[in-house]
Amino acid sequence: MKKRSGKELRELFLSYFEQKGHKRYPSFSLIPDDPSLLFTIAGMVPFKPYFLGLKKPEVLRATTSQKCLRTSDIENVGRTSRHHTFFEMLGNFSFGDYFKEKAIPWAWEFLTEVIGLSPERLYATIYLDDDEAFEIWRTAVGLPKDRIVRMGEEDNFWAAGPVGPCGPCSELIYDQGPAFSCGKPDCFVGCDCDRYLEVWNLVFMQYNRDEEGNLTPLPKKNIDTGLGLERLASIVQGVRSDFETDLFMPLINKISSLSGARYLVNKQYDTAMRVIVDHIRALAFMIADGVLPSNEGRGYVLRRLLRRASRYGRLLGLDRPFLIDLLPELIETMADPYKELVEYRSTIESVISVEEKRFSRTLDQGSTLLEEEISKITKEDGVILPGETAFVLYDTYGFPLELTEEICQEHGLKVDREGFIKCMEHQRKTARAASKQLSSATETETYSSIAAKLGYTEFVGYQTSEASAKVVAILKESQETPEAHEGEEIELFLDKTPFYAEKGGQVGDKGWIESATAKLEVLDTYYVLDTLIAHKAIVKSGYIAVNDEVEAKVDTSRRNAIRRHHTSTHIIHEALVRVLGSHVRQAGSYVSPDYLRFDFTHFDFISREELVEIERIANEIIQMNIKVNVFETTMDKAKKIGAKAFFEEKYGEIVRVVQIPGYCAELCGGLHVNATGDIGVIKIVRDENIGSGLRRITALAGMSAVLHYQELHFLTEDLAATAGIETKYLKEKFTSTLKELKDIKTELNKTKLKLALSQCEKITSQRQIVGDVTILVGKFDDLEAETLREVGDHLKKGFKKVLIVLGSVSDEKVLLVAMADDEAVKEGIHAGKLINKVAAIVDGGGGGRPNIAQAGGKDASKLEEALNSVPRILQEMMEA
Ligand code: ALA
Repeated sequence: MKKRSGKELRELFLSYFEQKGHKRYPSFSLIPDDPSLLFTIAGMVPFKPYFLGLKKPEVLRATTSQKCLRTSDIENVGRTSRHHTFFEMLGNFSFGDYFKEKAIPWAWEFLTEVIGLSPERLYATIYLDDDEAFEIWRTAVGLPKDRIVRMGEEDNFWAAGPVGPCGPCSELIYDQGPAFSCGKPDCFVGCDCDRYLEVWNLVFMQYNRDEEGNLTPLPKKNIDTGLGLERLASIVQGVRSDFETDLFMPLINKISSLSGARYLVNKQYDTAMRVIVDHIRALAFMIADGVLPSNEGRGYVLRRLLRRASRYGRLLGLDRPFLIDLLPELIETMADPYKELVEYRSTIESVISVEEKRFSRTLDQGSTLLEEEISKITKEDGVILPGETAFVLYDTYGFPLELTEEICQEHGLKVDREGFIKCMEHQRKTARAASKQLSSATETETYSSIAAKLGYTEFVGYQTSEASAKVVAILKESQETPEAHEGEEIELFLDKTPFYAEKGGQVGDKGWIESATAKLEVLDTYYVLDTLIAHKAIVKSGYIAVNDEVEAKVDTSRRNAIRRHHTSTHIIHEALVRVLGSHVRQAGSYVSPDYLRFDFTHFDFISREELVEIERIANEIIQMNIKVNVFETTMDKAKKIGAKAFFEEKYGEIVRVVQIPGYCAELCGGLHVNATGDIGVIKIVRDENIGSGLRRITALAGMSAVLHYQELHFLTEDLAATAGIETKYLKEKFTSTLKELKDIKTELNKTKLKLALSQCEKITSQRQIVGDVTILVGKFDDLEAETLREVGDHLKKGFKKVLIVLGSVSDEKVLLVAMADDEAVKEGIHAGKLINKVAAIVDGGGGGRPNIAQAGGKDASKLEEALNSVPRILQEMMEA
């Protein structure tokens, strides 16, 4: 067998299937256009609608090397030679075209003839009762009977998730030889060890599984296959693990030179190195596809992987952020064919660097705390780390729960997950988000049944804002119903609609739907299951039934305001790039009739001058009144004209481009103005940092901006009138007034202090003694904490071993300050603990250090009593 690089293997596979009539697609994004999945977990994910018959494919045969990410067993990644988060899946797909009869012999031919694997070392597994597959392996391929192994559902039935397309499968197994065996007497095909490697999974995709687990045959029989590139490379390159292939070795060597640790010398170090090189690939590709760190969803996975990698770096002695040092090797290895690594290099670098630095700051503190807790628990023979500790690590030190769990596991401890969740929920207070998710499960079921009937909703809103249509389904409280009556709120589905459904940050349309017997108001429009457009509507009068003919009318004045804001986001995006630099990349947006929000990557603050310039460019584009071009073209052409993409479009081929000639072009499915002049004006009203190297701009367009100017104008006029000056002097006047106020306050406090100090004599003359500690208490009116402390400092001077408690009432509220001098503190007196007890009497609380503390209280009538109790409280504390 000829030795080949990972790159060569990828190319051999794709060109082999091209020769067999398959269209070669570049890898689709790691972010699937599929709400049931966080990431693309297999090559088939982007093609799911074709398997389900929801969309018509452009071709019947396709082949890809797909970027995939699986997170189900992250904790194994690094510990074994084969587990990965990010990996590449080579696949060939048939959408109702060929089936097993071709998929099996082709797989065989590719492995034995193109790659040169020895046929004697290959086995096939098939699903229990799949006699058809057995026959093909036996006769068409000529594989001996004893090398075809029947296995059960767990091994030979494949599905992308609990619901969706699935089917029996057949796997090609490669025998690596006895040297790789676990040595158990029954080590054979199906054994978990490394001897009998599963190389290629051929899925005979012919069923759809619903929520109840029922299998229904798909409209057509399909093929979905998956061959792990890393695994294939390890066999062809004759190495013991995926990590020793040319896909990983440059990274391993780099981490080795950074840390000084050698690979394959120390088991712990090997694990750390494998974790790091695996995770850096995942991180770079996730960021290139638009994922940013956050505390939920994809962003949380990114954060978890980064923090896990960073922590393993510490185990190798890398105590400074190091992850971006691996990028040059990664890019060198993978930039062909994954150009996104080059295109988004600066974003990848900045995101990783900001996030790793942030975590670095707390990693050591958190680790120390955790190690201490662990040793305490193990000393007492405990096995559980309390949920609260895990929560503190999460909340204060940024330790993902799974990281804490993994570290605990290394010491034989478990984390009290429930306790953690309780703390989390307590903090979130409302579990609204969770309950929302729950109810959406039942909805999905109903939607699926509508999708099965209707397929998809035709959107005609690019051309028109009014259309005649037919009602195809009505949902009341998530249940299908034949009709709805006045006053009822429903979800209405039409065969076609001019209503824009929320997507790409643009909110859904509102408007009206009328039939011969009913008038409805549409409150919102949104997609369900990607393909169906739901109108959330209320029946204003009459009744409406399935099959009714209706007129659907969008509220055009609202829609026009949305269009102005949407084109404005493109304009602002361009202005940002021009002023701040090409690293600016859209991270999200919100487009409504009233305002727009635009989130983007930028790692610095934006100066006043830059903001002014951004706004100037944006309004210049408006004033040029440029005609906005909207057209469809191929992905390649769109890229050629430099169209900005948010996330890569799903099917790569035909994309919709919104272009402002001379300025910018973007892939976008939203609604836009005809010419930039229609916008009128853009006003940026807010620029803020939203964390993790992201900023958010909020802006107003058209009439919203005009209203804003009016408000500001009248506000300044009113303020000036109140001050009795011209508006141009407002700033000056305001600054001088504030300064005057401050000066007066300082004066006032001085006078109050003087007055208070004059009472000191009385206070000292009424001193009391407990043990050998002198106690001074005093009551004042209307003093601030600072003044009380000054009085305390003054009192302290004349005594040794003294405790002072002073109280003041202002606005019915009590303020308490306690102070103890060094001698008193040495004696064991703790001002913080004491004040808390004193404050309880005035219905309050507080605390502080042993020598100084502060408290508040609500019941001013008890202040006297509280101060009088100080000697008793001190006595009790000293005795305790
Ligand atoms: N979709 C199949 C798998 O992931 C090929 O194994």
